[in-house]
Amino acid sequence: MKAIRGAITVDKDNPEQIKQAVNELLSTIILKNSLKPEQITCIIFSSTYDLRSFYPAKAAREAGFSKCALFSSAEPKIKGALRKCIRVLILTEAIENDKSAVNVYLRKASVLRKDLTQILNIALDGPAGSGKSTVAKIIAEKLDILYLDTGAMYRACALKCLKERIDINNEESVNNVINNLDLQVKYENGVQLTYLDGKDVSEEIRSPNISMQASKVSAYCNVRNKMVCLQRKIAEKTSCILDGRDIGTNVLPKAEFKFYLTAAAEVRAQRRCKDNKERGFNQNYEEILKEIKKRDEQDKNREIAPLKQAEDAFIIDSSDMTVNDVVRQIINKIQEKI
Ligand code: DC
Repeated sequence: MKAIRGAITVDKDNPEQIKQAVNELLSTIILKNSLKPEQITCIIFSSTYDLRSFYPAKAAREAGFSKCALFSSAEPKIKGALRKCIRVLILTEAIENDKSAVNVYLRKASVLRKDLTQILNIALDGPAGSGKSTVAKIIAEKLDILYLDTGAMYRACALKCLKERIDINNEESVNNVINNLDLQVKYENGVQLTYLDGKDVSEEIRSPNISMQASKVSAYCNVRNKMVCLQRKIAEKTSCILDGRDIGTNVLPKAEFKFYLTAAAEVRAQRRCKDNKERGFNQNYEEILKEIKKRDEQDKNREIAPLKQAEDAFIIDSSDMTVNDVVRQIINKIQEKI
C-alpha cells in the first residue's frame, strides 16, 4: 500500500469552486505519481470548518472516482489554521518497483509543506565516521531531495594531486593543479557520481589513503574557495542535504536546518573498520582509530573553515544510537519547524 497526501485551498465556499479544486488536486496527484485511477483503494478528505457548501467526496465521485471508497469529514475550528482548505489522503494498492509518494500541496496550501515548494537546504556537519553520509542518503530519499557529499569533492582534489604526482604538502603546487581542475558532480538515479577529468572516480576516491590526503588539501584556501563556490551553486538551485565539515558555519550559514552529528572516536573507528572491509580495504581497527584522531585534529585545527558546530546547529551524539534513531530525530526536528 502507498499513502499519498495533498491539500488545496479555494477562495469562496461554493460547490463550483470545491468541485474544481477537488478535480485539480486529484488529477495532479495522479499525474505526479503516475497512477492509474483503478489503483486507488480509497480517498479520504477533510475540509476546514469554513467549507460547508459541498462534500469533497461527492465532488470526487462526480469527477469519475466512483470505484474506490470515498469519505469526507469536517475539521474543527482551529485558531491560526489555514482557511478554506481541503486535505486529502489517498491510499493505493501495492505497486511493483514503487517510488516514494509525491505529495501535492496546491495554491495557498503550499505553505503547509515548505519542504515541497521552496528550496530546502539541510546542513549536516561532523567528524569522519560519524555516520553523516549514511544518514544524509536516507533523509534525501525520504524528503525526495538531493544528497550532496561535499567530502567527495575534496577527495577528488586529493586524487588529482596524486595522479599528477604533486607534493600535497606544497600548497603552491596544489593550487596550480586545482586551478585547472575538471571536477563534475552528476546524479544517476539519485546517486551522486564524482567525475574527474571526465572519468567516474566515485569508488577510487574512497580509499583510506585518499581520506588522509583529502583532509590535507582541504585546508588550502584556493581549494576551499573553489569547492565552496561549486557547493553553493548546487544548493541555491536545488533542495538538498549537504554533508561536510563547514556547511552550517561557512558554505550555507543561512541554511534553515543545521545538524552536527558526532560520536566517540572509538565508535567511529569501528564503523569505518566495517565500512572499509565491505569496500575491500584491509586496515585494522588500531590503524583506523589513529587515522580518525589525526584527521579530527587536522580538520578541527586548520585555519580556514575548520570543523566546528554552528551555534544554531542541533547536536546529535550518535555513539549509542542506531542509524534509524538519528534519521528519526533529524526528520522530527525538520517537521517541527516546517
Ligand atoms: O567526509 P569525508 O571523509 O569524505 O571528507 C574528506 C575530507 O575532506 C575531510 O577529512 C575534510 C575535508 N572536508 C572539508 O574540509 N569540508 C567539507 N565540507 C567536507 C570535507
